[in-house]
Amino acid sequence: ELGYFTYDPGFVATASCHSAITYLDGDKGVLEYRGYPIEQLAEKSSFLEVCYLLFHGELPNEKELTDFDQIITTHTMLNEQMKRFYSGFRRDAHPMATMVGVVGALSAFYHHDEDIHDPKHRMITAHRLIAKMPTIAAWSYRYANGQPMVYPKNSLDYSSNFLYMMFSMPTEEYTPDPLFVKALELLLILHADHEQNASTSTVRLAGSSGANPFAALSAGIASLWGPAHGGANEAVIRMLQDIVDSDNDVAHYVARAKDKDDRFRLMGFGHRVYKNFDPRAVIIRKTCLELLEQLGPDNQYQELFDTAKELEEIALADEYFVKRNLYPNVDFYSGIILLAMGIPLNMFTVIFAMARTVGWISHWNEMIADDDFRIGRPRQLYLGSEPRDYVEIENR
Ligand code: SDX
Repeated sequence: ELGYFTYDPGFVATASCHSAITYLDGDKGVLEYRGYPIEQLAEKSSFLEVCYLLFHGELPNEKELTDFDQIITTHTMLNEQMKRFYSGFRRDAHPMATMVGVVGALSAFYHHDEDIHDPKHRMITAHRLIAKMPTIAAWSYRYANGQPMVYPKNSLDYSSNFLYMMFSMPTEEYTPDPLFVKALELLLILHADHEQNASTSTVRLAGSSGANPFAALSAGIASLWGPAHGGANEAVIRMLQDIVDSDNDVAHYVARAKDKDDRFRLMGFGHRVYKNFDPRAVIIRKTCLELLEQLGPDNQYQELFDTAKELEEIALADEYFVKRNLYPNVDFYSGIILLAMGIPLNMFTVIFAMARTVGWISHWNEMIADDDFRIGRPRQLYLGSEPRDYVEIENR
């Protein structure tokens, strides 16, 4: 018995670590941040309130949330010298490449070696990362588009500030659409943490050597970039657009996804842990539908949504997917919402990274705070050659 629930010994043997941050039940489709169901947080909370919960372990009271909000708001600026990192990239560099570089470079401005063992400094580092990621993300978009970097505005809330830095122009007034601010808040909450996924495990493993948190998060961002992980939201839209543009019907793509000889997979489908619906996908699909309804029947994204819905219906009626417990995951509908907000494809995973930053830094903090933590050292099953003697080159 380990407290709240009983692990089976096999599970403990395979578990890579213990954590008190997020609980998943893949069979039941349950996701809880610090014990709170994701459905309730999605409906009632704000992203900064969820950040406080994930890092500190409890929902903040009024004063704690006001103070936290104030701290984050006053840490959104970057050291002015960091602007030069962007100009070192080609304009057509993928914003995730910029993100990996700039976040790693934060070590040069905001880290001193003794800090990781000081809980107060670990908290300041978390504040800085949560606060600065929207600026770093928006500036990678502005640089790629040859537009001036827009500084954050302290009068705006977290999500509004990001949209302001992304889309405002010095030549005219800009007010973020409240519809899009609400949708972004929801996406940030749903992507904030997810137990020991590939990128979070990367952050833990990198951080377990004592590497500074900025370097560890840079490694996590690199891992998230892959299409099997955070890059899937971008891949889903490319897949849906291919289907819309092609003469083949949806059933043709479902058949391809089942074909062992075809590398094609339904992007946004399947999950290593969820063998039921990903609870986040259920919330996102509902939000997506509501957003498109508010945009009106002739919105340009309806066809993508209808294609996604048809794909889901055909796949979930097919024994191949049902037998393998393959359901839509968090990435299946999220990209349509981002497109509707005017976010370009190559920024989708950047926004995932912006949201997941609080999860990464909370897991890093939890690991470093544990006095018993040791460097991670996965082992392997050796499948190579038997022992043998060296052969001189003339005898090979
Ligand atoms: C995220 O870990 C996390 O928590 C991640 C995440 C988070 O919040 O951090 O939830 C975010 O990464 C979500 C996943 C996004 N990725 C995709 O949507 C890419 C498409 N999905 C697949 O690549 C796949 O489903 C994975 C990578 C998500 C999961 O892979 P698994 O668990 O290793 O599954 P598998 O490769 O062992 O597949 C099992 C079977 C195989 O068939 P068989 O060998 O049994 O015949 O299911 C098939 C696979 O071929 N399969 C699929 C499929 N996914 C698995 N077949 C068609 N389409 C798919 N999408």
